[in-house]
Amino acid sequence: MKAAIINNFGKPDVLEIKEVEIPGIKENEILIKAKASSVNPVDWKHRHGNHKLIMGSPFPIILGYDVAGIVDKVGANVKQFKPGDKVFARVDRKYGGAYAEYVATSEQTVAKISNSLSFEVAAAIPLAALTALQGLRDKGHIKAKSEVLINGAASGVGHFALQIANYYNATVTAVCSSKHKQMLNDLKPAYFVDYKQYNIKSISRKFDIIFDIVGTESFMSLRHLLKPGGIYITTLPRPKVLLHKFISLFTNGKKVETFIMKPLGADLEVINNLLEQNKLKVYIDKIFPLEEIAKAHEYSETGQAEGKIVIRIN
Ligand SMILES: NC(=O)c1ccc[n+]([C@@H]2O[C@H](COP(=O)([O-])OP(=O)(O)OC[C@H]3O[C@@H](n4cnc5c(N)ncnc54)[C@H](OP(=O)(O)O)[C@@H]3O)[C@@H](O)[C@H]2O)c1
Repeated sequence: MKAAIINNFGKPDVLEIKEVEIPGIKENEILIKAKASSVNPVDWKHRHGNHKLIMGSPFPIILGYDVAGIVDKVGANVKQFKPGDKVFARVDRKYGGAYAEYVATSEQTVAKISNSLSFEVAAAIPLAALTALQGLRDKGHIKAKSEVLINGAASGVGHFALQIANYYNATVTAVCSSKHKQMLNDLKPAYFVDYKQYNIKSISRKFDIIFDIVGTESFMSLRHLLKPGGIYITTLPRPKVLLHKFISLFTNGKKVETFIMKPLGADLEVINNLLEQNKLKVYIDKIFPLEEIAKAHEYSETGQAEGKIVIRIN
């Protein structure tokens, strides 16, 4: 099969298109004939070798965690899927492996997609939307009327978070630059703050949840914006979060949390339901063919994308 592989860590030019073996599957795994993938910042962080001390260097490595496609083969213990099903998943193999024509992943990471959903739209969803859902629901315990600040509301994770918070009838303050005006008109946060024009530390509202998706702030810089008992959640699990957790013991019940999203097919079903009810829209900034994966990484690394960057796989 054709795949984008890396044989070294480094700049985007380490990505090469090569013929490689189709992955074998274990009894609980599914082999998906991939139609599309998408880029997440973790892909280029892996490509740079940022996590090699923990994850090793098993070259050739195929990056990519998001896949949408058609079930090709299932392992002996797989119950819920059969060849021909239209599915999507956040792949659970170590470095992913989704920038390829065939992708293997555990049954529990997979969900069916509606017939009306294109593979390109479906592939934009898994990692980013799961992060948004699990961050707000499981860490933030979001509910109706929660005051929620989303820092990075136009990003891959952020645009899903904004819509999921609206779905819960929370009051959303979206922070991003005003070049995303069209998206904001469409997604309708209650309040909008352009961080390029206004220092978000000076916002006068108080929040139950601050969801810092781009990690430009910290618990220490924004804790004065939290209500007593409010929570600051960051998607960037940096060591300083541990220190801030300790400090938070003395801050009137204000909490700080970080997390790594879980690749759960059951949560993808929740997201698929929201799509079917037209409660969720997927914004795709650009689509690149697999052969241009290096350009897709370069673009993602600019930090400028609105919504998601998708990879088309023929
Ligand atoms: N812990 C986890 O499980 C987990 C899961 C997913 C992602 N993450 C991490 O979360 C981060 C975001 O991921 P993503 O996929 O959402 O990223 P992304 O889509 O690549 O983010 C691009 C967006 O960042 C925004 N941005 C850049 N600087 C900003 C600033 N100072 N303030 C507000 N927005 C800013 C840009 O909007 P503007 O035009 O408004 O600047 C752009 O829309 C990454 O570091 C990723 O690794 C962690």
